[in-house]
Amino acid sequence: MRTSLPTSGTAWPELKAQMQQRRSGDIDWRGGRASVYVFHPGDDVLDVAHEAYGDFISENGLGPGAFPSLKQMERDVVDMALGLQNAPEGAAGTMTSGGTESIVMAMKACRDHARDNGFTGAVPEVVAPQSTHPAFDKGANLLGMRVVRVPVKDFVADVDAMARAITENTVMLVGSAPSFPYGIIDPIRALAEIARERSLWLHVDACVGGYVAPFVARAGFPVEPYDFSIDGVTSMSADLHKYGYAAKGASTVLYREKARFNYQVFRFNDWPAGSMSTPTLAGTRPGGAIAAAWAVMNYLGEEGYVERARRIVATRNKLADGVGQLGFEVFGDPQVSLLAFGGDRLDIDAIGKALYAEGWMSSRTSEPKGIHLMISPEHEQVADEYLETLARLVAASKSGQLSSEGPEIGYSS
Ligand SMILES: Cc1ncc(COP(=O)(O)O)c(C=O)c1O
Repeated sequence: MRTSLPTSGTAWPELKAQMQQRRSGDIDWRGGRASVYVFHPGDDVLDVAHEAYGDFISENGLGPGAFPSLKQMERDVVDMALGLQNAPEGAAGTMTSGGTESIVMAMKACRDHARDNGFTGAVPEVVAPQSTHPAFDKGANLLGMRVVRVPVKDFVADVDAMARAITENTVMLVGSAPSFPYGIIDPIRALAEIARERSLWLHVDACVGGYVAPFVARAGFPVEPYDFSIDGVTSMSADLHKYGYAAKGASTVLYREKARFNYQVFRFNDWPAGSMSTPTLAGTRPGGAIAAAWAVMNYLGEEGYVERARRIVATRNKLADGVGQLGFEVFGDPQVSLLAFGGDRLDIDAIGKALYAEGWMSSRTSEPKGIHLMISPEHEQVADEYLETLARLVAASKSGQLSSEGPEIGYSS
């Protein structure tokens, strides 16, 4: 039966209690049980984001003239982002609602730039590694473009195969830093070389890595270069609501040159309410998301992010060693905050489902089959417990006590 609007209202304390009750079936992310969807940096950071979001909950990023506070906060956030990604003078960008919107906006900018610069084909193409996030296919669907997916080699972009996939319709190359499925940074330098040679737009999808990789590097660990210090990187997506630890609804899309960014902006005046110019897909933009990102970045500062990056790397190393001892194989050589592991001799489906049944939520990989962890600073507290659980489930699986039947719990199901 459909729920109808109640005739009269209910007092907030009762509603709050009801909502807490509804939450009882949700994954226990505060207890470190989620390694997808939530990036837990510690309660103090959440308090800052919460309060800043609440303070600007009614303000609207659509109206910079009405809210110079938001305009300046967004400019500060984008400036900090450009600095972290080693963008040169003259670079530009905006905040968006998330990784998907950042990617779609960069694709729109690329498409319109190509058309303004002699591209006459019907369907502009994006050449991307098979490990690229589906946000590009969503963007292509919306924008009348096409994504050509190229198989990966050793879990990263196969640069030669990508070069061979370029046709006269290609307008964009993509590399991820890192890719969602494997957590490995694609060879961006090599992709940039091709992009320069063939005058193509190279987008680096650093949605996951953009706000953790720079700090892993500053903490002294090796990180494959991926940012604007590489000549040939045209644009980048980097999500604040992942490892920027901001409230949800916050990402950045960045361009080496303001002239390229200008293609992102949509301008319109053929209606009876004057001209409208918006840089993002959204019209109304939540002031809270801008304010919370600004507050969290300033609250943590470089030291706060580096300290969390250290904890992430320590946890990642502990988990990688632990799963290796249990007979799993870690996919590739993860340098940032993701870890995926599998193995032919273990029943990954059965173990993955049993983990979920015991309250541990993570996504899974399908090529090859694996378990996929996005590590948060707070996972430090539960890494031992996770490995103990996994050891027990591996033993149970080997003695035939686990079943791989039942519905698959995937990344977005
Ligand atoms: C590499 C990568 N790109 C893009 C996205 C899409 O981001 P969002 O879910 O914020 O739209 C994700 C999400 O996990 C991602 O991992």
